[in-house]
Amino acid sequence: VVVNVASTEPHPAWQECYDDLGALEAALAERPGVLPPSSLHAYAAFKAGHGFVDFTPSFGTRVPALAQLAEQAGVPFAGGDGKTGETLVKTALAPMFAHRALHVRSWYGANILGGGDGATLADYGPRASKIQSKQSSLGKLLGYTPDGTVHIDYVAELGDWKTAWNHISFEGFLGTQMKMQFTWQGCDSTLAAPLVLDLIRLTAAAQQRGDAGPRPELAFFFKDPIGNPADSRLVMQFEALRDWALAGRVAA
Ligand SMILES: NC(=O)c1ccc[n+]([C@@H]2O[C@H](COP(=O)([O-])OP(=O)(O)OC[C@H]3O[C@@H](n4cnc5c(N)ncnc54)[C@H](O)[C@@H]3O)[C@@H](O)[C@H]2O)c1
Repeated sequence: VVVNVASTEPHPAWQECYDDLGALEAALAERPGVLPPSSLHAYAAFKAGHGFVDFTPSFGTRVPALAQLAEQAGVPFAGGDGKTGETLVKTALAPMFAHRALHVRSWYGANILGGGDGATLADYGPRASKIQSKQSSLGKLLGYTPDGTVHIDYVAELGDWKTAWNHISFEGFLGTQMKMQFTWQGCDSTLAAPLVLDLIRLTAAAQQRGDAGPRPELAFFFKDPIGNPADSRLVMQFEALRDWALAGRVAA
């Protein structure tokens, strides 16, 4: 299984050849720069018969032609962007507001982190890819998009650690205005490493079972899951993963 844990890339402009494998391969043979490195690595992995995991918010396998290739080659893939901190908490917490009919008026997030990832995200292009990925679940979880944004800043001194502060403004019975705030302080590498190991095992198992193409069952691990998973709630994602893993064990 090939895992992308390289620096976050800016997303490229859409090209027509992304929609069709034949057109993509013709374009690749014709000119350089058709695909960003994350997608080229996925292409190479599929060609060599390997599954692929994108732990980053980069473009990666978000190319229909690459999904066609994976299906053809009989290999699974999953992504994108590991869910290890702020978004992990958000996808656990947002359903609570929805289930109790507490209307979220605004949800604002401020993130500071160090390390190579923090330095990369100081640039506009990669930061835009990360923010898009971080923002993708809230609207699906609540059924509407509350006011608010996500900010990311680089603080070199933090090294491998990250802090996320979230401020949530919500409305209860009779329009009563209330607030919730949380602060998450996590160690990036130790949050990510066990997920990467599990993803390698589960993707390899999917390939052994003959599950090719995008694997929405692995959505539990990602901020912006590929393959149109039915549910964005963390608990439901966990149940879907467990059902899929147990079904495989029974079949095996
Ligand atoms: N908790 C986490 O650590 C976490 C969570 C979610 C997503 N991610 C994503 O995982 C990726 C890695 O995070 P990190 O903290 O290890 O970052 P990092 O900056 O420490 O490491 C990235 C490495 O990728 C290398 N690289 C850059 N372009 C490459 C390419 N084209 N081919 C091969 N290598 C390349 C860089 O030289 C660097 O060594 C980032 O995209 C990050 O957003 C990490």
